[in-house]
Amino acid sequence: MAGPDILRREGAAGEPALKDRALSATAEGIAIADARLPDNPLIYVNSGFERLTGYSAQEVLGRNCRFLQGAGTDPEALEKLRAALRARREVTVLLFNYRKDGTGFWNRLAVTPVCDAAGEVTHFIGVQSDVTEETNIREALKSANRELETAYRALRTDLEAAARVQQTFLPSTLPETAGVRFASLYRPCADLAGDMFNVLPLGGGRLAVYILDVSGHGVASALLSVTLTRFLSAGEIDLGRPADTARALNRKFAWDPRTAQYFSLLCGILDTGTGEFRYTCAGHCDPVLLAVDAEPAVIAGGGPPVGLFPNAQFPESTLHLRPGDRLYLYTDGLIEPDNAQGREFGLDRLVAVLHRERGESLETGLARLLEEVVAWNGSPALADDVSLLALEMT
Ligand SMILES: Cc1cc2nc3c(=O)[nH]c(=O)nc-3n(C[C@H](O)[C@H](O)[C@H](O)COP(=O)(O)O)c2cc1C
Repeated sequence: MAGPDILRREGAAGEPALKDRALSATAEGIAIADARLPDNPLIYVNSGFERLTGYSAQEVLGRNCRFLQGAGTDPEALEKLRAALRARREVTVLLFNYRKDGTGFWNRLAVTPVCDAAGEVTHFIGVQSDVTEETNIREALKSANRELETAYRALRTDLEAAARVQQTFLPSTLPETAGVRFASLYRPCADLAGDMFNVLPLGGGRLAVYILDVSGHGVASALLSVTLTRFLSAGEIDLGRPADTARALNRKFAWDPRTAQYFSLLCGILDTGTGEFRYTCAGHCDPVLLAVDAEPAVIAGGGPPVGLFPNAQFPESTLHLRPGDRLYLYTDGLIEPDNAQGREFGLDRLVAVLHRERGESLETGLARLLEEVVAWNGSPALADDVSLLALEMT
């Protein structure tokens, strides 16, 4: 081991050479084994080794270092070490070792072969670092991650099951009634959505049509949207007069500070015989009308969302639809996605796309619209639920 003379020279008062002082001062354990003798006996250990293992140099010199091993030492790591020593290669392994007092510690052991001038391996130098703290932290992190993964999988399974239940409330097929055709699109941003829509035949060629959007999204919104859907389908509420429907829902689902939920609603009655659509818009997105003989129109107006104000009024409006007219009801998740510059897709673009696709079927128009929204958003992962219910008078 060559080096500057100062490393080997003893101090004035017989102090150990600088090299020896450096070897003692280092926190790491250093052990040298003689590779020419059977079983690689130790011929040197520094003070760091003594501090780390609790064994004195006298107790260990002449022995193979395996006395540090015990029941918790990983056989795989040992095999890797053995193979490297046999091949006289450098190796680093993580071993669980035991001090003289029986306490365990994680030892990151690096063993390097040392050759003589003829290239023969004469010694092995082992450097032992106590990595117990970081290994325990890593192990704790791994086990926390495993627990998290298990919990996440359970949660996902639950959410997927809940989403399947929720989707059974969506109309699987929209009613096929003379005089009108429907198409729809539903894209929850999480598995569960706060959006819901439906078309319910009332008899006599009249259809109750609604679309709603519960504030927020995810599980809490989905719970209320499912409750509302059941409530609206169960015949518990008169759907014949849209304003009364909104008022009744406003009473039944009044503001509760514990949940702080409310919802926007557009509900109406379509008379397929006359084309009259009487509806109330409660804080919901303005419907878009594509009449055959007129420019596309956004029909503004309406009352506040349902569940915010106890005495809210919900005015009714009436549209007279003629064959070929198309009406689009949608939720704000469709117009609110931002592009990379932070600009919203917006209502104007929505109207322009629907107008452009006027010659296509209702379904194709909706699919193209969604494509444009996703392209605008830059990713299919939209930030809010998207629902669209379109009808065409025939
Ligand atoms: C220089 C040197 C240092 C070593 N240091 C350790 C050590 O700190 N802890 C340990 O468990 N094994 C250590 N070993 C490994 C064992 O001495 C032995 O080589 C290993 O257990 C594989 O041999 P075996 O299967 O005959 O036991 C060291 C080996 C050498 C050559």
